[in-house]
Amino acid sequence: MTWDETFAVDYERWSAHMTDDIAFYAALAREADGPVVELAVGTGRVAIPVARSTGHRVIGLDSSSAMLALARANATTAGVDLDLREADMRDLHLDEPAALVYCPFRSLLHLPTWSDRRRTFERVAAALRPGGRFAWNAFAFDHHVAARVDGAHQDDRTPHTLRYWVGDNRIDIIRDDGATSSLWWATKNEWLGLLDVANLELETLHGGFAAEPFNDASAEYVFVARRPLTR
Ligand SMILES: C[S@@+](CC[C@H](N)C(=O)[O-])C[C@H]1O[C@@H](n2cnc3c(N)ncnc32)[C@H](O)[C@@H]1O
Repeated sequence: MTWDETFAVDYERWSAHMTDDIAFYAALAREADGPVVELAVGTGRVAIPVARSTGHRVIGLDSSSAMLALARANATTAGVDLDLREADMRDLHLDEPAALVYCPFRSLLHLPTWSDRRRTFERVAAALRPGGRFAWNAFAFDHHVAARVDGAHQDDRTPHTLRYWVGDNRIDIIRDDGATSSLWWATKNEWLGLLDVANLELETLHGGFAAEPFNDASAEYVFVARRPLTR
């Protein structure tokens, strides 16, 4: 069993603190004049309120069948129709170009290599209609914090240990039963480089979901990019 298959049942408690992003992604979805896609949709935490508040069809991709099963159940309970697909975001392919692709809760950090990210950004660019937007958020990595938590054990409902691997810019979250989730951190210039190679244009980079300016004290990247109208 992978981390995500066994972790799905605990995910909602794990993510309960994260709420600021919903209004941000819903506002972008309201401005979209076509299909909206969430990469790594998880349990539908964001996709359900986005679909409900905008009336847009939301396509949600995730590689975990267990997360998708929860998303399906949550959408039914909420009375919302989501188009859920089991797929890897690196293989994104749509029949109809999207007006908005978004990826909340730092999920792009699950992609291990530059080539995985490059491929994802190129797939997103190919899936967007001209002028369509790509939005995502990710931690701005603080090596001081990572070094401090390296080896720390958390005794919560999902007991786990954090490990920090300097050479790979990676944090492992290792559950006591051995299942591991890894996050590979990217710098601002790596994100900008990915936009560059995918021929996407930066629209905004903020330090939070309330349009805080991005500066040296920012702990989060909140990116909005777009596919140029002509290319
Ligand atoms: C932190 S959760 C985010 C879920 C949801 N977007 C949210 O904001 O609550 C990360 C999700 O990424 C999914 N995931 C990880 N790697 C993936 C990949 N390569 N393609 C698609 N989904 C992936 C996991 O299965 C998990 O559901």
